[in-house]
Amino acid sequence: MPEEDPRIIELREMRAKSRQGGGKERIAAQHAKGKLTARERIEILLDSGTFQELEPFVTQGHDETSPEPSKIPGDGVVTGFGKIDGRTVYVYSQDFTVQGGSLGEMQSHKICAVMDLAVRNGSPIVGLIDSGGARIQEGVRSLGGYAEIFRRNALYSGIVPQISVIMGPCAGGASYSPALTDIIIMVEKTSYMFLTGPDVIRTVTHEEVDAETLGGAMTHHTVSGLAHLTAPTDQDALATVRSVLSYLPNNNVENPPVAGSGDPANRMDEELNHLVPIDPGVPYSMHNAIHRIVDSGSFMELLGGFARNAIVGLARMDGMPVGIVSQEPDMLGGSVDIDASDKICRFVRFCDAYNIPIITFVDSPGFIPGTDQEYRGIIRHGAKVLYAYAEASVPKISIVTRKAYGGAYVVMSSKYMGTDVCFAWPSAEIAVMGAEGAANILYRRQLKDAADPEAERARLVEEYRQRFCNPYAAANAGYIDDVIEPRETRLRVIAALAALRDKTVQALPRKHGNMPV
Ligand code: HXC
Repeated sequence: MPEEDPRIIELREMRAKSRQGGGKERIAAQHAKGKLTARERIEILLDSGTFQELEPFVTQGHDETSPEPSKIPGDGVVTGFGKIDGRTVYVYSQDFTVQGGSLGEMQSHKICAVMDLAVRNGSPIVGLIDSGGARIQEGVRSLGGYAEIFRRNALYSGIVPQISVIMGPCAGGASYSPALTDIIIMVEKTSYMFLTGPDVIRTVTHEEVDAETLGGAMTHHTVSGLAHLTAPTDQDALATVRSVLSYLPNNNVENPPVAGSGDPANRMDEELNHLVPIDPGVPYSMHNAIHRIVDSGSFMELLGGFARNAIVGLARMDGMPVGIVSQEPDMLGGSVDIDASDKICRFVRFCDAYNIPIITFVDSPGFIPGTDQEYRGIIRHGAKVLYAYAEASVPKISIVTRKAYGGAYVVMSSKYMGTDVCFAWPSAEIAVMGAEGAANILYRRQLKDAADPEAERARLVEEYRQRFCNPYAAANAGYIDDVIEPRETRLRVIAALAALRDKTVQALPRKHGNMPV
């Protein structure tokens, strides 16, 4: 056996050293917090044995406080590529054991390098974020490093899917990077995001708040609408990334991957025929309807805790990924407000960017009235939904299940907004407004003069309901393609999706529109 080449021995030693991150003690501290290390996370995220690391020998941290260049293993980030379900993804994972995962110039170079490779190759980017933010010793170099990442987040948006997993601190301006990406997943209890932390808030506003309440996973999932999904552990969060990617194409010129579906395409669901109560004032669960219509177990709701009067999420129909948009009549009667508008608008644009057909269920009495919403700009926010639907060129199918009044009807994927196929259930009420409101306006004088105004109002409301609150006036006018039994929704939608598979829309040439934001 010839003697080992000393240069190869040296390489192995250097590799082993670079894999130690910040050393045993810091790794133990990381584990004690219930967090995995940067490398352990990558191993769990990717298909076993597929990770190929890039630039592990980068150590050149620039320290404004020292004449010597600092030696930081991997510069606090592990980058490279590997596979998820056999498809290539590019990944970076910040190493909190190395200077708190703080971002210096070379860490930024490493992250930008994998982002550039991902776009050149047309593959998704996954960022695992666990960092104290801009590396203080590197001064403006670290700020420039963030700017380089933000610029790529923005320019690559809509080209390849970008997913951020927040697995520790993500504070200050650093939080703008995930905010620019398509999907944010936060680990409960161990991650947080905020622009200014509790100490600064205490000093400036004298407000007392802890990090978890200010920017923990639940806060961003339910209050700010930043975190699409949360997970109880690092392992769960990484499994969630794999699930999300299973619905997405590698890039904006590919179609999303069709999965095998054990659910028959022609399955009827008799329960759906009994779902919508006869009394229009009695709510029902649209979540229930969605679960019954899409491929069994395939619905992945996004932002499920935020603006719960609206529903958005990914699902499959006969194995084909689709985006689901709806209102939840069980919540605020399904009315649309500012937060619901933002939630729907961004999701519609996300689906359109990645060639995911959009299926919209409509049951909404309209936008929430009142000064609060008007003063905060409900018109501006509602316009975004119109804009997003009008601009979306993917196959669009809508199903009116019950109320589709006024603006909500028009905005939420009506035929003349460019929806390809519009269905309505027999319970649909497509009208300018609900019967009560309409009767008060139309018959004001008649009601004033009536001997028994209440009895007259009831009679007129019923008359209006008979005449307008049904799907047939819209179907007669060609606004609805067909009135269908609820139980046949699945097969009708799947057939429409198949017929629309090769849809092409020639967009009018322009630099870009001026979306109301
Ligand atoms: C350099 C940092 C660092 C940073 C942490 N460390 N943050 N080093 N720059 N920004 C180092 C610590 O010195 C320590 O080093 C190690 O990381 C672990 O940090 P600890 O404080 O011991 O950990 P912990 O108690 O868990 O607290 C984590 C923390 C805290 C909450 C993140 O470190 C912290 O508050 N850091 C500063 C956060 C911050 O203000 N960042 C700048 C945000 S502004 P040793 O050697 O002891 O292990 C920003 C601007 C971006 O990011 C602008 C873009 C537009």
